[in-house]
Amino acid sequence: MKTAQIRQKFLDFYASKGHTIEPSASLIPHNDKTLLFVNAGMVPFKDVFSGVEKRSYSRAVSCQRCVRAGGKHNDLENVGYTARHHTFFEMLGNFSFGDYFKREAIQYAWEFLTVELGLPKEKLWVSVFEEDDEAEDIWVNEIGFPRNRISRCGAKDNFWQMGDTGPCGPSSEIFYDHGEDIAGGPPGHADEDGDRYIEIWNLVFTQYDKQEDGYLKPLDAPCVDTGMGLERLAAVLQHKNNNYDTDGFKSLTKAIVELTQEDSSIKQDNASVRVIADHIRSTAFMIVDGVIPSNEGRGYVLRRIIRRAIRHGHKIDINKVFSIA
Ligand code: SER
Repeated sequence: MKTAQIRQKFLDFYASKGHTIEPSASLIPHNDKTLLFVNAGMVPFKDVFSGVEKRSYSRAVSCQRCVRAGGKHNDLENVGYTARHHTFFEMLGNFSFGDYFKREAIQYAWEFLTVELGLPKEKLWVSVFEEDDEAEDIWVNEIGFPRNRISRCGAKDNFWQMGDTGPCGPSSEIFYDHGEDIAGGPPGHADEDGDRYIEIWNLVFTQYDKQEDGYLKPLDAPCVDTGMGLERLAAVLQHKNNNYDTDGFKSLTKAIVELTQEDSSIKQDNASVRVIADHIRSTAFMIVDGVIPSNEGRGYVLRRIIRRAIRHGHKIDINKVFSIA
């Protein structure tokens, strides 16, 4: 299934469950001075979660473009060296604003993955916040998910917050097992950072609005904020172990390899090729959304990403580009 089809399937599925489809917002969070970039699908809805802004609906679904480079969620240094990190990615998300909570969030996610997409149940693994008995009970008693494939993790992994302040809460994550040929362990295990068990979906049970002094102010009504990486899901559905081998990246990595020297041994799986492919996506979308390279703030992040791409271009001798420039 092509990335574009997966995106549409997700939006259609949640629309059929009464969610309003919202287009992706700009990467620049115009409603929020605490963030450099939109780093999650929930950011454009931040004020709806906290109750400051009212909308005509209580359920929404979106595919939001995100940048995680600079600020609290920063994946820049991992890019190119893992199968799954990007500075720019698209986040599929469904949101409940005081409407449904844990039960439906888990049920919908399970139905989408196993019925709509037909993923084999035995390839999935789940984590829940260590204090969240309710979420574990829903997984075990209502979904029928085996308890021995559920990890209970601490706040670092299973309590999500967007920044130092704002909507937050415990989460339950769904992982896909890419198979024993790949190094890595399930969540909560010592080798969890390998590429075998990949987190594909984060279901956040948004219950608090974190204040500047750290106080977790309970929201009037509990909400749901889920986020699934489109690129990671595409890798699963296209039977690839690496996001860079999916249709969303192949044409870029191919074009980059074509710019290397004719006698070069550089292939599409080269780390520098992947870095450049990732950085082309993030810089293009940042510029489209109005960011200009500069010495501070967003512009500086953009400049650092461009510089990093150029450095990797030198590493693989992309002289054709420089001679064109
Ligand atoms: N906000 C959560 C995340 O970014 C879920 O959408 O992972």
